[in-house]
Amino acid sequence: MRSREGKIRCYFQTGTAILRGFMNELDTTTSILTDSDLLDPYEKLVHVEILGQQVMVPEKNRLLRCFQYLSLNSISYGDFCWNGECTNCQIWYHEKGQTGTNDKPTLSCRVEVVEGMVITKLSQFIHLDGINK
Ligand code: FES
Repeated sequence: MRSREGKIRCYFQTGTAILRGFMNELDTTTSILTDSDLLDPYEKLVHVEILGQQVMVPEKNRLLRCFQYLSLNSISYGDFCWNGECTNCQIWYHEKGQTGTNDKPTLSCRVEVVEGMVITKLSQFIHLDGINK
């Protein structure tokens, strides 16, 4: 029979191992994107709100690439043409300081991210980990 301290130590070690594995996976995903040619060169991340959640994405990149930065697998394997033809990447957004009455549609594969953008609606084809997936 394990003592109470032993059980706590075991839970802590298990939690630490899970967290370490998650961080390794996160590092791998991040390095895949930062070491690849997927993203256009950037120096900093900018704030964007997506469906009420604040996220940070690379500046000077098209929004669909930013979505890929946030959710590598779902966007990489999603049904997107990446060239403005399918409309599967459509979003609705307004800019910093505006309200939802200013929402306008755009194709995320065609528009560059802007600091403070507020994205209020995503096409049914856009699935972002931790946001709408
Ligand atoms: S991905 Fe097809 S129009 Fe944007």
